[in-house]
Amino acid sequence: MGFWQEAFEAVKENDPAARYNFEILLTSPGIKALAAHKVSHFLWCHHFKLLGRMHSQFWRFLTQIEIHPGAVIENGVFIDHGSGLVIGETAVVETGAKLYHGVTLGGTGKDTGKRHPSVRRGALISAHAQLLGPIEIGENARVGASAVVTKDVPTAVTVVGVPAKIVRVHGPVTPERDRAKLERERHVSFYDHMGGI
Ligand SMILES: CC(C)(COP(=O)(O)OP(=O)(O)OC[C@H]1O[C@@H](n2cnc3c(N)ncnc32)[C@H](O)[C@@H]1OP(=O)(O)O)[C@@H](O)C(=O)NCCC(=O)NCCS
Repeated sequence: MGFWQEAFEAVKENDPAARYNFEILLTSPGIKALAAHKVSHFLWCHHFKLLGRMHSQFWRFLTQIEIHPGAVIENGVFIDHGSGLVIGETAVVETGAKLYHGVTLGGTGKDTGKRHPSVRRGALISAHAQLLGPIEIGENARVGASAVVTKDVPTAVTVVGVPAKIVRVHGPVTPERDRAKLERERHVSFYDHMGGI
C-alpha cells in the first residue's frame, strides 16, 4: 500500500469522527504534516538540508506540528489533532504508532548522535506525553497522557506518570513481559518499604 492509502486507513481506524478520504484530506492536520514530511525528508536526504528545514517550518506554521526533516517516519502512522507535537531529528516512528497533540519526541540535551526516541509499531503516545532521549517505546506499548518517559518502555505495557512507571502489562507472558512485571514489582515493593509515599 502507498503512503496515502495507509494514511487514510490509519485515520479511519483510529478516529471515529472521520468519514471519507476527501474530508480527512481537508480537515486532518496530521495527514498534511505527514505528507509534507515525506517531501522535507526527501530534501534532507538529498543534501538540500536548508530547503528541507524551511519546508518543514512552512508546514509547521500551517499545521502546528513540527517534524524535523531528518526524522524517520514510516507509512501508516496516525497523528490526531497534533497541535504542539514536536518530533526531533533522530526520532523514529514505526507504522501503526498513534501520536496525540502536545507530544514531544525530544532530546535531553545530554546525548550526541541518536538523541531522540524510537516509537515501535502500534505504540500509543497519549496527549502531552514527553518522551526524552534515545529511548525505545516497545511495540503496542501505551504511554499515558502527560507522562514523562526517559527510560525504555517494554513491548505491550502501559506506563503513566512522572517519571513514567509501568501500571499494566498486556498480552501473554514472554521474557520481555516478565522483565516489565519484575520492574513493576520492584517499584511497588520500594514504595511499600518507604511507607507508601
Ligand atoms: C494510558 C491510557 C492509554 C490507558 O491505557 P490502559 O492500558 O487502558 O490503562 P488503564 O486505563 O487500565 O489505566 C491503568 C492505570 O493507570 C491510571 N492512568 C491511566 N491514565 C493515566 C494518566 N494519563 N496519568 C496517570 N494515571 C493514569 C488509571 O487510573 C489506572 O490506575 P489504577 O490501576 O489505579 O486503576 C489512557 O488512560 C490515556 O492516557 N489515554 C489518553 C489518550 C489521549 O491522549 N486521548 C486524547 C484524545 S483527544
